[in-house]
Amino acid sequence: SSEKILIKGGTVVNAHRKEVADVYIEDGIVVSVRPNIKVGDHVKIIDATGKYVMPGGIDPHTHLEMEFMGTVTIDDFFTGQAAALAGGTTMHIDFVIPVNGNLTAGLESYMNKAKKAVMDYGFHMAITKWDEGVSKDMELMVNEHGINSFKFFMAYKGSLMISDELLLQGLQKCKSLGAIAMVHAENGDAVAEGQKRMIDLGITGPEGHALSRPPVLEGEATARAIRLANFVNTPLYVVHVMSIDAMEEIAKARKEGQRVIGEPVASGLILDDSWLWHPDYTTAAKYVMSPPIRTSGHDKALRAALSTGVLQLVGTDHCTFNSTQKALGSEDFRKIPNGVNGIEERMHLIWDKMVESGQMTVTDYVRVTSTECAKVFNIYPRKGAILEGSDADIIILNPNASFKIASASHHSRSDTNVYEGTTGKGKVEATISQGRVVYEDGKLKVTPGSGRYIRMPPFGYLFDGMEKADAAYFASLNAPIQRTKSAA
Ligand code: URP
Ligand code: ZN
Ligand code: ZN
Ligand code: ZN
Repeated sequence: SSEKILIKGGTVVNAHRKEVADVYIEDGIVVSVRPNIKVGDHVKIIDATGKYVMPGGIDPHTHLEMEFMGTVTIDDFFTGQAAALAGGTTMHIDFVIPVNGNLTAGLESYMNKAKKAVMDYGFHMAITKWDEGVSKDMELMVNEHGINSFKFFMAYKGSLMISDELLLQGLQKCKSLGAIAMVHAENGDAVAEGQKRMIDLGITGPEGHALSRPPVLEGEATARAIRLANFVNTPLYVVHVMSIDAMEEIAKARKEGQRVIGEPVASGLILDDSWLWHPDYTTAAKYVMSPPIRTSGHDKALRAALSTGVLQLVGTDHCTFNSTQKALGSEDFRKIPNGVNGIEERMHLIWDKMVESGQMTVTDYVRVTSTECAKVFNIYPRKGAILEGSDADIIILNPNASFKIASASHHSRSDTNVYEGTTGKGKVEATISQGRVVYEDGKLKVTPGSGRYIRMPPFGYLFDGMEKADAAYFASLNAPIQRTKSAA
């Protein structure tokens, strides 16, 4: 269908510059970006005077309809994406979980789940075991199925966790395919030990979750993954960076020139773990995620790291369970399904905490919420920009309007929200997805099945020039030292 839209008079923001300009959209594509565009009849005109016109958010980290910890996340590709659009996010990358370790079966299952998609999406693939079949399937995922990233779990012992040996093999495979290796960095063996300690002490409530897996375990695993990626000489993407400990390892490696990407998530940037001590179980349990939300101070340090470029982009790890599902762990924190919401809230929270507070420029806001994700996963400038030829995934944000977060009005299927009652300044007033206005005047107009699978090609910018370091390394091996035997 052909929808023609002219967004007039707003401040158009890209990660590299902002300008007052009009944006003309036709057939889902940005046709023109310049001041005073003249159009004929049958064009929808949106007045954006005094507002920001920005690329729709891209959430690099979500779990829709995921089977996990004995249940299934409550937001599927319909409700989760509807929530995303209402909050100014127009694309997300979800994690395919293999079926009994089988990647192809996992992808098939997720392709089915995504049939009700209402916006564009891509996939990362989790690697939960290792054999020849998995290795071959990784090739298939990259070369046939448009997946260019694989997540390795260093935690969740007994289910998703893999050994260092497998991580190493996975890193090598990723390198050969031009795919990005992602890690959930917590020391799973130590977490299991920490959990046992808590249970032995009789601590079975949600606070035991935080106490059993402190920041030091995240720092250790982050450092280990970074060093193994260094040994292999391949880029590394650390998902959900929740602590100063992990952030400092990333900062150090980047300073030394290593290609490491750090992804903080909205919850880690904004919340602190005091909620886990709340006397009401349901209230406390909704804040349980892994790695845990940390004590006050980590949030502030992560925001500083984001504003100075030490961390590069913001996700949510949207992984929602309702109160009934969270009740699975009412007798034992180890059984609380891990995960919090955020897909609808991220754009507002980051605007308020970073831009409205004066800690970040609007161009950097676009970079961390959209552009950098598109670049890392190699879909820029189709996504992550408002340029001629880009997909028309656009939001209009009014910096003078306010938002209020409440489970009574959010679009997620969950009965709770970890940001319940949070208010702030800066409101997404319109969302355009694939060139259609899907959210306006507080109303959603979405069409199940309209979401498209976005293929992500390998060898993105993180691999640029990587061969040089390899060539130098191998050249050094090609000149073995000739020794003569000497008498002892
Ligand atoms: O608690 C979390 N993060 N749940 C989702 C799974 C993961 O580790 O990302
Ligand atoms: Zn058309
Ligand atoms: Zn994880
Ligand atoms: Zn996750």
